[in-house]
Amino acid sequence: MDELRRAGVRAAEIVAGHLEGVPAGPVWQPVPEAGRAWLGGLRLPEAGRPLDALLDDVHAHVLPYPMGNGHPRFFGWVNSPPSPAGVLIEPLAAALNPSVAGGDHAGPLLERTVVRWLAELVGFPHPPGGGLLTSGASMATIVCLATARQQAALADGWDAREEGLHGRPPMVLYVTEEGHSCLHKAAQLLGLGARNVRKVPVDASYRMDVGALRTMIAEDLAAGLRPFCVAGSAGTVNSGAVDPLDAIADVAAEHGLWFHVDGAYGALGVLDARSAPAYAGLDRADSLALDPHKWLGVPVGCGCALLRDPAAARAAFSLVPSYLVDDNADDLGWFSEYGPEQTRPFRALKTWATMSYLGREGITRLVEHTSGLARTLAAMVERAADFELLAPVATSITAFRHTPRDGGLDALNRAVPGAVQARGNTFITGTRLGGRDALRACFLHPDTTEDDLVLLLEEIRLAAKTL
Ligand SMILES: Cc1ncc(COP(=O)(O)O)c(C=O)c1O
Repeated sequence: MDELRRAGVRAAEIVAGHLEGVPAGPVWQPVPEAGRAWLGGLRLPEAGRPLDALLDDVHAHVLPYPMGNGHPRFFGWVNSPPSPAGVLIEPLAAALNPSVAGGDHAGPLLERTVVRWLAELVGFPHPPGGGLLTSGASMATIVCLATARQQAALADGWDAREEGLHGRPPMVLYVTEEGHSCLHKAAQLLGLGARNVRKVPVDASYRMDVGALRTMIAEDLAAGLRPFCVAGSAGTVNSGAVDPLDAIADVAAEHGLWFHVDGAYGALGVLDARSAPAYAGLDRADSLALDPHKWLGVPVGCGCALLRDPAAARAAFSLVPSYLVDDNADDLGWFSEYGPEQTRPFRALKTWATMSYLGREGITRLVEHTSGLARTLAAMVERAADFELLAPVATSITAFRHTPRDGGLDALNRAVPGAVQARGNTFITGTRLGGRDALRACFLHPDTTEDDLVLLLEEIRLAAKTL
């Protein structure tokens, strides 16, 4: 234990020094050849090495080459900096190292609380047991869509778990053209077939065209298919758009469809008073995916599947062999009965720590600050002659493009993110939006300032000149 204690003190120093130094360093830098060779060519040592030597290696070869998302000028994809409370607490979860599959210990009890907190935070109905933490939203989506699939089968008088899908009318899932790839992956994995995922068109704000949804459902019913689920987005990854959730809930109710909401990134946007009206109807969903490892900043990986009816998820997943029967479990049983994972990490501890440290006020301030930055950047883009705003700001993402000349804008904007990243002063990623190559900046860092936005546009200009 002495070795662990001594190395632990040093590790804490290294962590604090690293985090302190992040803002002054490059946002991102490529790993040099020697570093690549070291990281990629390591051999398993024959004899074990002291803890101190491991810290030396991490200090020299790992910490200098981060992804960049700890930096206040990182605006790529949807990746937040780690919350200080999460960084502090994560080793304690490892020290306990439980499996939070179930059982009588702190892990399952705290996970229930944290899941309830997440539901309450965004105003989602929460019956006891109505959700579980997952590795991320991709896994949460699998939980929710598998639950929806089994509910549809049971409503039709059969059991998808027992029979498989063969010989049954194909079940159809509706997502928008802007729906996250994890919805498609989940549908494919669940045996629904990519061809049975409808891409509902979007309006000029990249929100689901609910009239088109109605038409598609009618066509599928007429063709003998089985519409079973519609998935709306509360914050798309491309532009941050929030689908018209209330109107989608109406359609789902009319047709008896499961209503899923992908709020992996954006569900917390409801805490910003200016954005909140767009979230009307979120509380009508049957399931909601919400990632604590995105806007909240809980260290990766922590997603959450929230379920209006926990019994539905249990019906889709519960399989308890004799060696796992727990006669002392309460009525809700084990978490492993609500999803595919058996051994489950103690994700609740870092989520509890992060939420407790910030409190509702701190979380709201973070969401307001970062949403405000997205709106400010949008206003700057609209004022600039050499930029064009591509979507209204709904959450904390600004979608835009650089327009310094007349032709070749797709090629230019496709090349800009890489060129900006290579300069090391800020980090942006690109996408395709409305048939055009676009830039998008996602704000999640509490320390990003308006000066950083000025620098971002300047960096894009400078990078574009080299292309
Ligand atoms: C809107 C949205 N949905 C789903 C996901 C998938 O989440 P995860 O990467 O946690 O599996 C993401 C990831 O960025 C996302 O932004």
